[in-house]
Amino acid sequence: ENNAADSKNLRVKLVLLGDSGVGKSCIVLRFVRGQFDPTSKVTVGASFLSQTIALQDSTTVKFEIWDTAGQERYAALAPLYYRGAAVAVIVYDITSSDSFAKAQYWVKELQKHGSPDIILALVGNKADLQEKRKVSVQDGTEYAEKNGMFFIETSAKTADNINELFEEIAKRLP
Ligand code: GTP
Ligand code: MG
Repeated sequence: ENNAADSKNLRVKLVLLGDSGVGKSCIVLRFVRGQFDPTSKVTVGASFLSQTIALQDSTTVKFEIWDTAGQERYAALAPLYYRGAAVAVIVYDITSSDSFAKAQYWVKELQKHGSPDIILALVGNKADLQEKRKVSVQDGTEYAEKNGMFFIETSAKTADNINELFEEIAKRLP
């Protein structure tokens, strides 16, 4: 059905959080520019990019994306970026149990200090590195379910599930 009267233009503040090196900047680069950078530099402070997608009902969603720095020295800045965010995407690396523990830390922090109606997405990135996997799909799924989050595994390298991640978030917007 194509009802132009139902179409909307949404603007959404989205923040990416997670350990340094899990691939946050690569996910954004893949989503916004369709590229992958194997020599991606660590983010300093945070970087901002935006990207608009169209949904099937002709609603457009403009994601205003804050890609935060995962290094510990920047942790105190995080509230500046997640404050007022409608969506938080919390990323870990499926080859790193430490990064999965860090993701859980961010979930708790957002549950305490994020907007009460924030949409939380849990992302297991680097799904192309199956042979080095340390965090099972089940671990990710169960943790996300317990915490009322949306869960997906992605690869910024192969582009697997990157568009799907943002489309699924868009579907969950009020
Ligand atoms: P900070 O900015 O320090 O918080 O790190 P980050 O989470 O932004 O990590 P970044 O995107 O810079 O990626 C870190 C490293 O992981 C880079 O060498 C990337 O090329 C690599 N990388 C990112 N995503 C993937 C992926 O899906 N698969 C593989 N194999 N490597 C990836
Ligand atoms: Mg980065």
